[in-house]
Amino acid sequence: MLIRHTPDLSYSQVTPKEAYLNRRRFLAASGAALVPGMLFAGTKLNGVGKGPFGTTETQTPYDAVTTYNNFYEFGTDKDQPAKLARGFRTSPWTVAVEGDAAKPRKFDLDEVMKLAPLEERIYRMRCVEGWSMVIPWIGFPLNALLKQVEPTSKAKFVTFESFYDPKQMPQARYGGLPFPYVEGLRLDEAMHPLAILAVGLYGETLPNQNGAPLRLVVPWKYGFKGIKSIVKIRLTSKMPQTTWNLANSREYGFYSNVNPEVDHPRWSQAKERRIGEFFKRNTLKFNGYGDQVAGLYAGMDLKANY
Ligand code: MTE
Repeated sequence: MLIRHTPDLSYSQVTPKEAYLNRRRFLAASGAALVPGMLFAGTKLNGVGKGPFGTTETQTPYDAVTTYNNFYEFGTDKDQPAKLARGFRTSPWTVAVEGDAAKPRKFDLDEVMKLAPLEERIYRMRCVEGWSMVIPWIGFPLNALLKQVEPTSKAKFVTFESFYDPKQMPQARYGGLPFPYVEGLRLDEAMHPLAILAVGLYGETLPNQNGAPLRLVVPWKYGFKGIKSIVKIRLTSKMPQTTWNLANSREYGFYSNVNPEVDHPRWSQAKERRIGEFFKRNTLKFNGYGDQVAGLYAGMDLKANY
């Protein structure tokens, strides 16, 4: 399962926004066309509709969303990914969708972007560490991609794998985690319309530190399920391994649903601090998305299946 994937990278690096804008101006002035399919971090996304399930709670400021990150391949301090992922090459990019599927295949990013209309999904996000944010993601339901490959009746789970290149991610060796980062969902969780593949936030393509060019967002689960910079998705009959479960199975289980009634072995999960707020607020079961997703877990012991 943990096969390293090395996409053929040809562009020297993702262009910072200012340089990109300057380049665009230069190209416009010189009459040259932009190379189709090149998506830079921080590029405005057009034609984005308002998606369902959005919260009207105050959105966490862009600066906090993009400088307070967990992306261990680029360092374990919250401010490191924003600095160390700057040169991360995300174009060209492909995602292989394989395993128990009638039509397994690779998608390039252009194809991914056209699978379904892009929607803004303003989701509450809850990190297992006890903080939370409200993020206006842009993406589309994960099920739109999975349906393309036609999962067979053997497929019961979905496993995800992040890009990993120690040359571009030298900090990864101090991360204390096995890489590439892997995550998993049950197939019915993955097909749920709340689970999205995000390609942007705050109206623009994803900054590298937030998982460019494509990452998972599962708002009723702890943030670590939201695997970043995905290169491989595999349909399987067996429950997949996940990075945090491999690192510490006592503390991190497969399900990882937000649940104020089930404490982390080392701290309570009853409350959370919304980034930017002083007082803690109560954590909601399934992060407040119980009306939509509780049915997925009917009859299950959520203490045993943490
Ligand atoms: N994906 C990869 N590849 N590597 C990581 O270290 N960290 C996870 C998740 N996805 C992580 C990852 C954790 S612990 C969290 S809380 C979220 O990304 C954070 O996402 P954000 O930085 O966009 O808020």
